[in-house]
Amino acid sequence: MPHFIDIADFSKEALLAMLAEAKRRKAARAGLPKGAADADAPLAGHVLALIFEKPSTRTRTSFDMAMRQLGGGAMTLNSHDLQLGRGESIEDTARVLGRMVDGVMARVHEHEKITALAEHAGVPVINGLSDLSHPCQIMADLQTLEEHKSRLEGLTVAWVGDCANVTRSWIEAAALLGMTFKIGAPQGYWPDEEVLAWADEKGGEVLITEDPAEAVEGADCVMTDTWISMHHREEEKARRMADLMPYQVTPELMAKAKEDAIFMHCLPAHRGEEVAAEVIDGPRSVVFDEAENRLHAQKAVLLHCFGKLG
Ligand code: CP
Ligand code: NVA
Repeated sequence: MPHFIDIADFSKEALLAMLAEAKRRKAARAGLPKGAADADAPLAGHVLALIFEKPSTRTRTSFDMAMRQLGGGAMTLNSHDLQLGRGESIEDTARVLGRMVDGVMARVHEHEKITALAEHAGVPVINGLSDLSHPCQIMADLQTLEEHKSRLEGLTVAWVGDCANVTRSWIEAAALLGMTFKIGAPQGYWPDEEVLAWADEKGGEVLITEDPAEAVEGADCVMTDTWISMHHREEEKARRMADLMPYQVTPELMAKAKEDAIFMHCLPAHRGEEVAAEVIDGPRSVVFDEAENRLHAQKAVLLHCFGKLG
């Protein structure tokens, strides 16, 4: 079953094929109203269920619109409206949804819920963010980076601040696609040893330092994410803010990257915390191209999952 659970599950060729499809479809529908279907409507008759255990703006709207543009439909299911919220098992929920819809996208707390859905649904399952990873975001990020830098291989991406789910998926993508990934974060906020070992085995170049200036030196792109992810506990907030404040992406930090470096952020952003307003609202920021590309990149992911790619 062609699921989309983690970037690490794919080859370089498979990732590039999805990105090429995303680029082609984005160009082909220029000028169309957003709700109009692509000319070939390849997913006509298909419906995707969208399960949310956590809030979402981009993932929710982009998957719904992606299905419409591909000629199919989507239904949004908040977990507290499902019997899942009253204790029905994820396995039974998966089996039922697999009888009702053609595919499932889920945003969950524990990553194991995604793998359980995939094991029991009998239809393709897409990871729309878990506590571990956020592979859909990285497909949009790659599309955006390629649009602005005309290539991926050989680029240097700097990640500054907390290392969470988005960072993990980025490490996987950088290792597979031949990009250098430089992390600037305090110890204790570094990625898991296990994903670093995986990247090393793949020949990936991942460098980690506590010095944010060293991390961004020579970078084509500087990225960060919120310091308080949806899976972090409220009690951690004060400590995280204090520990991570020296890692805010400021104009001064951006000045240490390449002269033409861009700034990316998966959003939602917190101005004055992980990024200064002058950076995210400034000329080097491409965060809204990145948000838009969630739609285009995920259309390619959906075509992969429904066996309609290439
Ligand atoms: N970047 C992202 O996944 O945004 P949402 O949480 O709004 O879906
Ligand atoms: N790391 C963030 C990403 C939000 C899209 C979170 O998990 O909350």
